[in-house]
Amino acid sequence: MIREPVQARPEATGRTSFITVRAEARAVKRVRDFVAEVHGHALGSEALYLAQTVAGELATNAVRYGGTETVIVRTYESAEGPVIEVVDRGCRMPELRGPSEDATSGRGLWIVEMLAARWGCTPPADGEKVVWAVVKISARR
Ligand SMILES: Nc1ncnc2c1ncn2[C@@H]1O[C@H](COP(=O)(O)OP(=O)(O)OP(=O)(O)O)[C@@H](O)[C@H]1O
Ligand SMILES: [Mg+2]
Repeated sequence: MIREPVQARPEATGRTSFITVRAEARAVKRVRDFVAEVHGHALGSEALYLAQTVAGELATNAVRYGGTETVIVRTYESAEGPVIEVVDRGCRMPELRGPSEDATSGRGLWIVEMLAARWGCTPPADGEKVVWAVVKISARR
C-alpha cells in the first residue's frame, strides 16, 4: 500500500442525494446516470465526465469487494466541490497499489487518484465503510 486513505471528508453544504443499487455489474451504469441526474445542471461536460468516471470506479469496487447485495451511492455539494460517497460493508480498506504489481488490475483507484481533487475511506465501523472522492472543481463550467 502506498498510503492509508484515511482523512476527513468535506462537510455537506446542501442536501444529500442517494441511490441504492444491487451489487451487480449493470449497477455501475445506473450510478453514472445518477451522477448525471444530480450534477448535470451544475457541472460542465468535462467535470461531469470526471465525476461519473470516479463514481463508476468506486461503485465497481463496492460491487466487487463490498460483500453485500446492495451498494449505496450518496452525493452532495461541499465547499471543495461535489462529493461522491460509495457505501459498502466489506471490512477491508481500498488500497492504492503500486502500478507494477499487477498489469491488468489495480488501475481503478489510480484513476480516482488522478481525476479526483482528493479521496479517502472511513475505517469500517458498524460493518459499514464509505469510500469518498471530491470532484475537481477546476473542471467546473
Ligand atoms: N470498496 C472496497 N472494499 C474493499 N477493498 C477494496 C475496495 N475498493 C478497492 N479495494 C481493494 O483495493 C484494491 C485496488 O483497487 P483498484 O480499484 O485500484 O483495483 P482493482 O479493482 O483490483 O482493479 P481495476 O479497478 O483496475 O479493475 C483492490 O484490488 C481491492 O483489494
Ligand atoms: Mg477497481
